[in-house]
Amino acid sequence: MSKTAVVYWSGTGNTEAMAEYLVNAINEKGGQAELFPVDSFDVSTADAYDAFALGCSAWGSEELEANEFLPVYEEIEPKLAGKKVLLFGSYGHGDAAYQQDWKARAEEAGAQVVATVGSLDAPEVEDEEALAAAADQLLA
Ligand SMILES: Cc1cc2nc3c(=O)[nH]c(=O)nc-3n(C[C@H](O)[C@H](O)[C@H](O)COP(=O)(O)O)c2cc1C
Repeated sequence: MSKTAVVYWSGTGNTEAMAEYLVNAINEKGGQAELFPVDSFDVSTADAYDAFALGCSAWGSEELEANEFLPVYEEIEPKLAGKKVLLFGSYGHGDAAYQQDWKARAEEAGAQVVATVGSLDAPEVEDEEALAAAADQLLA
């Protein structure tokens, strides 16, 4: 069975709500997902996962959060090669441009990015539908 690590950072809970929805969606669809706030993910276990769903809200100026998320992401990134990866997160304005930069660097590292899902502020029904569709792509 495909094992997915859902690893996220969330400043005010919006990306956390997406992560919780996603882990439930993956498990309901027959996958095996585990949820980790980024500071509790042990990078040495990364090889045990077939797929990753990585979540971080837009922070800085269209950037990944630099103090807690980015350092761990940079340790995970080399382990994404050849794996299916879903990128997600909440943003407050614009069009989640940071996710396109993130997708480009993950693909540069060899990840197979199956989807990016952005939610403007707190996730609503259409965001949940996008996350459910992305979960399907992760499990396909
Ligand atoms: C310090 C700071 C920087 C932010 N930078 C951006 C940004 O560059 N682009 C954007 O769309 N939203 C930005 N936001 C808005 C957040 O991404 C938005 O509120 C999001 O819903 C927070 O999700 P979270 O609760 O998962 O952290 C910023 C918010 C803060 C507090």
